[in-house]
Amino acid sequence: MKFDTPAGQNPIDKLKVVGKATDRIDGPFKTTGTAPYAYDWHDPKLKPAYGFVVGAGIAKGRIKAMNLTSAKAAQGVLAIVTAGNAGKLGKGKLNIATLLGGPEIEHYHQAVALVVAETFEQARAAAALVKIDYAEAKGAYDLAAVKDTGKPEKLGPAPADTSVGDFAGAFAGAPIQLDATYTTPDQAHAMMEPHASIASWEGDRLTVWTSNQMIAWAARDVAATLDMPQDKVRIVSPFIGGGFGGKLFVRTEAILAALGARAARRPVKVALTRPMMFNNTVHRPATIQRIRIGATPDGMITAIGHESWSGNLPDGKPEAAVQQTRLLYAGANRMTQTRMATLDLPEGNAMRAPGEAPGLMALEIAMDEMAEKLGIDPIQFRILNDTQVDPEKPERPFSQRNLVQCLRTGADRFGWDKRVSKPGQVRDGRWLVGIGVAAGFRNNQVTKSGARVRLDAKGMLTVETDMTDIGTGSYTIIGQTAAEMMGVTLDRVIVRLGDSDFPVSSGSGGQWGANCSTSGVFAACEKLREAVSQKLGFNSADAVFEDGQVRSGNRTAPLAQAAAGGDVVAEDTIEFGDLAKKYQQSTFAGHFVEVGVDVATAEIRVRRMLAVCAAGRILNPKSARNQVIGGMAMGVGAALMEELAIDKRRGFFVNHDLAGYEVAVHADIPHQEVIFLDEVDPISSPMKAKGVGELGICGAGAAVANAIHNATGIRVRDYPITLDKLLDRMPDAA
Ligand code: MOS
Repeated sequence: MKFDTPAGQNPIDKLKVVGKATDRIDGPFKTTGTAPYAYDWHDPKLKPAYGFVVGAGIAKGRIKAMNLTSAKAAQGVLAIVTAGNAGKLGKGKLNIATLLGGPEIEHYHQAVALVVAETFEQARAAAALVKIDYAEAKGAYDLAAVKDTGKPEKLGPAPADTSVGDFAGAFAGAPIQLDATYTTPDQAHAMMEPHASIASWEGDRLTVWTSNQMIAWAARDVAATLDMPQDKVRIVSPFIGGGFGGKLFVRTEAILAALGARAARRPVKVALTRPMMFNNTVHRPATIQRIRIGATPDGMITAIGHESWSGNLPDGKPEAAVQQTRLLYAGANRMTQTRMATLDLPEGNAMRAPGEAPGLMALEIAMDEMAEKLGIDPIQFRILNDTQVDPEKPERPFSQRNLVQCLRTGADRFGWDKRVSKPGQVRDGRWLVGIGVAAGFRNNQVTKSGARVRLDAKGMLTVETDMTDIGTGSYTIIGQTAAEMMGVTLDRVIVRLGDSDFPVSSGSGGQWGANCSTSGVFAACEKLREAVSQKLGFNSADAVFEDGQVRSGNRTAPLAQAAAGGDVVAEDTIEFGDLAKKYQQSTFAGHFVEVGVDVATAEIRVRRMLAVCAAGRILNPKSARNQVIGGMAMGVGAALMEELAIDKRRGFFVNHDLAGYEVAVHADIPHQEVIFLDEVDPISSPMKAKGVGELGICGAGAAVANAIHNATGIRVRDYPITLDKLLDRMPDAA
C-alpha cells in the first residue's frame, strides 16, 4: 500500500481496541520468566558451547604477536577464533570499526579473539591466558583538543551546514544577544540486557538468536561480514531487554558466535560482560555546541545560529545536535554547522534520540538564558517565536504542530503561575526550590514496513513481521491494530515478531517503529479484509468487520467462516510517498521540572516532572506513557549523572561498569506525569499516529538545568550538572 494522500476515515477510527490503555500482551511471559531472551534460549538440542570475548588492551596501534599456546591447552577449550584464523571477513554496511580486530587495533576493547569452551567459566579462564604483545600508537582522545580539525559532515541525507538570510549581520545588529557554549559528555546506552547471541550452523545455513532492534539490517550485515548470501542467514530476536540505539547494528558477539560455532562445529553462545559493553560497543559521542541568538527587545528572534562539534572514528558519523535548531523556532536569519573530528575512542553512534536529545540540552538552556536577558517569561518567549512552517524552507508546513498548546497546557497543570522568576527565592526547609521548562522536539520519520496476517478456522488471527519489541510495547499495539482492523478482541490475535523469516518491517529505531510497523499491519489487514470478503461472497467496499462478524448489505457471517476451507493469508508493505516530503513531520512536547537543591551540600533532587506531548494518535496510552516517563528519567540521567570518563592518555572509558556509570531510575523522581494532547495526524500514516518514544527524553534534560538555575541562580553549561559544579557558587546558606 502506498501512502501518499492524507488518511481519510478508516477502520482504526472506531477506536474499540486501538487508543485504549492496554496491558502488554507480552507482559506475562516476561514476569514469569518464559520470554526467551537471546542468551537464555533454552533449546536442549542446541547443547551450546560458550564463547568469551578478548578485548584489545590498547586504544590504537597493532598486535605484534599473539600467543595462544596456554589458552589452547586450558581445560575445556574447543577453539580460539582470531583475525588470523577466521578467514577473510567483510564489513557490515552500518559497522564503523571492524568487529574482529587485529593486527590493527582501532579502539580499546575492540574484540581480538573469542575463546570457545565447554563452559562459560572455562572460556573465561582460558581467555585470561591469551598473551598479546602490542605496538601502541598515539591516538586522539580529547574532543576539545582536536575540535578545530573537524570537517563538515552531513547528517544522513541533510547537509552539514545550513544558512538562511544573513546570520552574521543580523546577530551583530541585534539589540539583545546571547553567545554561549555548552557541552555534553560521552554517554553509554547501559541497557539492561547486554549484547548476546547464540549461533548455530546447519551446513551452510546460519541461525543467530540475538538481541537486535533491526532484523533485516542484522541479516544483511551478518551476511556481509561473513561473506555469505543473506538468504542463508536467519536472525531471531523476539524479546529484547532494551536497546536504546546500541542494538541498531550488528555487534561483535553475533559475528564471533557465528565464527566460534563454525570453528567448534557446534552452537556457541556469547554475551558481552558488562565491563566489555562500554568500550567494545558504541556510545553517544560528546558534543561542544555554540549557540548564538539575537532578538529584538520585545522578544522576536532575528538571528539564530548553532554550531556543533563531535568526534568519531574515521568513517563514523557526527552527533546531529543542530537538527532541532533548523526547525524549532522562527527567525529570518539563521545558520547551523556540524563539524566532526577524528577521535580514536570507541565508535560513537545512535543513542536514545540521537541529535535532538543532546541538541536540546544546549538549545533549551540558551532559550532560557535569552528569556532571562529579555526579561520575558521563558514560555512566552518560546510562544512568541513559534513557527508553523519549516523556518529554513517556508514552503514546507508542519503536518501538525501544537507546541504552543503543549506549553500552555503544561503551564496550567504544573502551576507555572506560581513560579518566582527571580532565581534563588524559594526555600522549603534545607532545599532551594526551582521550576524550569523546555520545549521538546523530535522528528517523526516514516519508513516502509511489511506484515503478514493469517486468519484460521477458529477465527484466530496471527500477525507476523520482523518488527522488534525492545521493551516498548510493539507486540501490543500491533495486536491492537489487527484486532481493530478485523473487528475482533485483542485476545483473538497472536503476534509473532523479530524473525527474519517474517516480512521486513521498519524495525525499532528513531521512534519510527510504532507508527510505521502498525501501518504495515494496517496494509496487510486491508488485504485480508478483501480476501475474507471474497471468500464470503461479500462486497469488500461495504463490508463491516465488527464483533467477530462480517456484515455486508443485509448479510452477516462469522469472520471465522472465511477460513473454513483453509487459512486465509494476506501480506503487504506500507510505503510512504510524497507526503513525507511535502510536509515537515515532527513531534512536540512541553517539559516541566521542579527541583530542590540542598542549600548546604548542593545535592540536587528532582521533585516532580510533567511532559505534555503532541504526537498524533496515541495507539496505547499505557505503553506510550511508559515510553515517555522512561525518556524523562533518561533526561534526568543526562542532566545530572551520565558521563563516560575518558582516560585521555590511554584512550578508553574508565567507568565501564554500572557502579561507575550512573543512570537515573524512576525512584529518583517521586512524581511524573504525562499528558497527551488529543491529536490525530492524517499526514503521518493511515494510523494517524506518530513516534512518541524518544520525545520523552528530548528537552527533559534542559528543563532540569533550567529548574536548577531557577532554584539557585547558577547557570551550568557543562553536563552533567553534578554538585561540584554548584558548590562554590551556591547562594549564602543563611
Ligand atoms: Mo534509537 S537511538 O534510533 O534506537
